[in-house]
Amino acid sequence: MRAVIPAAGLATRFLPATKAVPKELLPVVDRPVLQYIVEEAASAGITDVLLITGRGKTSIVDHFDRQPYLESKLEDKGDAKRLEAVRHPSELVEIFTCRQHEPLGLGHAVGCAESHVGNEPFAVLLGDEFMDEGSPLLPSMLDLQARTGGIVLAFVEVAPEEVSRYGVAAVEPAEEGLRDLGEVVKVTKLIEKPSPDEAPSNLIVVGRYVLPGTVFEAIRRTKPGSGGEIQLTDAMGLMLDEGTPVYGIVYRGVRYDTGMPLGYLQAVVQLAAQRPDVGPAFRQWLAGFVASSDGAAGG
Ligand code: UTP
Repeated sequence: MRAVIPAAGLATRFLPATKAVPKELLPVVDRPVLQYIVEEAASAGITDVLLITGRGKTSIVDHFDRQPYLESKLEDKGDAKRLEAVRHPSELVEIFTCRQHEPLGLGHAVGCAESHVGNEPFAVLLGDEFMDEGSPLLPSMLDLQARTGGIVLAFVEVAPEEVSRYGVAAVEPAEEGLRDLGEVVKVTKLIEKPSPDEAPSNLIVVGRYVLPGTVFEAIRRTKPGSGGEIQLTDAMGLMLDEGTPVYGIVYRGVRYDTGMPLGYLQAVVQLAAQRPDVGPAFRQWLAGFVASSDGAAGG
């Protein structure tokens, strides 16, 4: 099974930090966001990852390459722990890359993967969405795709007023035989960035997908939609209308959108608090900081 990680967007919600540094490389404690995502793919049994990159994103690929000079220096010093940390990203999966020449949308970015992926089902993981390692979703999604043969999405529930920033689904209960895989629903309609009035539910599509190879042909037929971009949701909507089964699993674990400052900060704080090394001292400091700044924040 292959995975595609689109990482060619302009990351305007995180400017100016992302002017020269790709948002996928912003560190959560001491690892770039993207490393967690590649680790998630590797844990789900994926061995081949295609990164869709763009201008100014070459450093993303460097992170997953070997660094012989640095490695030999750490070896000379006998620093086995840091040596392992430096080598680990290059050992997770086999990394391939492809350039999206212009950021024409997520659908267009996924379309760039066609020659690498061929006609096989594949996973798509967005490079700026962080999901809790403790409750992985991807293995159940891969299983669901193998059983249904169509598109498999991941949903989270949001407050009704938040739907207009996302792809939203109308759903009905899935067949009994699929429910062992979690909160599985069958999708009847997909709408990209609806107004709260036209949204069919408050289930938003989040950044994990398992798609059949037929998606490439649908992307080619998809016209620019919301924001003038070729939207993956629109291509999937086309397939749904033409009879491709579309299922989703409602995710109840922790998920952060690290593509904007608030989500990023939440991910950093959660991960730092859970880390066995820095966690105890960080939690103690954080509790004190919150207690002492409560009055100031209230004022
Ligand atoms: P986003 O909607 O987060 O867009 O894309 P963005 O450009 O990265 O960020 P903002 O909204 O301007 O802040 C979702 C994912 O799709 C990728 C992005 O890199 C991100 O991982 N993407 C988006 C592409 O690879 N190419 C595109 O043309 C658009």
